[in-house]
This record gives sequence, structure tokens and C-alpha cells, in this order.
Amino acid sequence: MEYLIRQYGLEQGALEIEYIEEFFGEFARRKTSNEITGRLTEREHLIVMAVAALPGDPGTLMPVSYKVCHELFSQESDPRLADLAAQIEDVVDFNGRRVLYSWIGGTRIDWRGQGHFRALTEEQEAWAIAAGFDEVVVKTKNRYYEMRGTLANLHFNVVKYVPHPIENLESKVFLSKKLGPHVLDLHRSARTRLEDSGR
Ligand SMILES: CC(C)(COP(=O)(O)OP(=O)(O)OC[C@H]1O[C@@H](n2cnc3c(N)ncnc32)[C@H](O)[C@@H]1OP(=O)(O)O)[C@@H](O)C(=O)NCCC(=O)NCCS
Repeated sequence: MEYLIRQYGLEQGALEIEYIEEFFGEFARRKTSNEITGRLTEREHLIVMAVAALPGDPGTLMPVSYKVCHELFSQESDPRLADLAAQIEDVVDFNGRRVLYSWIGGTRIDWRGQGHFRALTEEQEAWAIAAGFDEVVVKTKNRYYEMRGTLANLHFNVVKYVPHPIENLESKVFLSKKLGPHVLDLHRSARTRLEDSGR
């Protein structure tokens, strides 16, 4: 299967994410486009989506899976990012290295299990390596079994577990992957990059 990947500019990408997250019934708190643009403006980032034809309408391509990552520094002024950096500083080396944070992503329910998220992950990794990033970090929770299983298959390694004081399902799991040419050797999805979309 050939996966179709589209990179989005910040403003259009933020709107598309707000729209696609409407299809993720499992998340009570979805990201708004303002939240996305607020975090990503003036920070190196990548917004990519896998697009596929609608059943019964092969002429219309729509986003079915998405992934957003951005650079993370050891010192951050935004309190949420400062907290994130502080939580991983003992397991991720920021010193002279570029760290990428894989922030949000998912696949629409009807398109899961078809390799779209792997294709996006490989696209993200190829971009990150070309951009000079050394490591990609991701955070999930104990209760996100699908995501944990997927990240294991994509060879992310657990680097930290932060227990929740009351509900273990809410405990945080931090995973990371060191980047380099060896990562590209393991890529296996056939991908076509469509023209960039939007600003
Ligand atoms: C997790 C999620 C993104 C996977 O997307 P997807 O498009 O179905 O993933 P893919 O089909 O590309 O699968 C990628 C790899 O993960 C594996 N995988 C996918 N779903 C899995 C699951 N539920 N359990 C275990 N492994 C899984 C696939 O077998 C594949 O491995 P392989 O390429 O080595 O065969 C999707 O299920 C999702 O959006 N879930 C809800 C989002 C979520 O839980 N977010 C948590 C917040 S962090």
C-alpha cells in the first residue's frame, strides 16, 4: 500500500487537527486550533497527515491520521513545556542535542490498523533526522493501551514511568527513540508526499 502524506502549514494544520479530533470520541479534552498555534508558533515543528479516499468517493482525499511534533528545550518559558522538560531531564540528555517532542496524533477509528500511523511516524523520523534532531520523545498514559502497543511496535523505548498518586491508569509513561541513519534502515512504508498545504 502506498500512503499519501501531506504536510500542513501551521494555521491550516491547526484547523484540520481541530476538525479531525472531533472523530476521537475517546478524548474528553481536545486541542483547539488556538492552543496548537500558540504552542507551535516560533518553534520548529512538523504537522503531517495521512490522507485517504472516502469510501464511495474515490475522488475526495481526506485526513485519516495525523501527527504533530515540535522542538523541546531544557529551559522553557511556557509552564506546561517547562514541566515536561523538568520531568524528563533525568532521562533525556538535552546538552548539545536537539530533542523533538511528539506531541499529539492519532488515527480515525475506521482507518486504524492499516499502517497510516506507521507511515506518519516514519515520515516524521525522516524529517527529524534531516533537520538534525537527535532524539524523539513521546508521553502517553497507562490507560492508552492502543498507543502503548503501537509505540512498542514502532520501537519506542520506555524511559520513565511516573505513577499517579491515586489512579494507576492515569500514570504517565515517557518513551523515546534515539535518531540516526539506523532508524531509516528500519522504515518500510511506501510513502508519497503530496504538495504542502497552507501557510
Ligand atoms: C494508536 C493509534 C494512533 C494507532 O494508529 P494506526 O493507524 O491504527 O496504527 P498503524 O496501523 O500504523 O500501526 C502501527 C503499528 O502499531 C501496531 N498497532 C496498531 N494498533 C495497535 C494496538 N491496538 N495494539 C497493539 N499494536 C497496535 C500495528 O500492528 C503496527 O505495527 P507493525 O507496523 O509493526 O505491524 C490509533 O489506534 C489511535 O489513534 N488510537 C487512539 C489515540 C490514542 O490512544 N491516543 C493516546 C493519547 S497518547
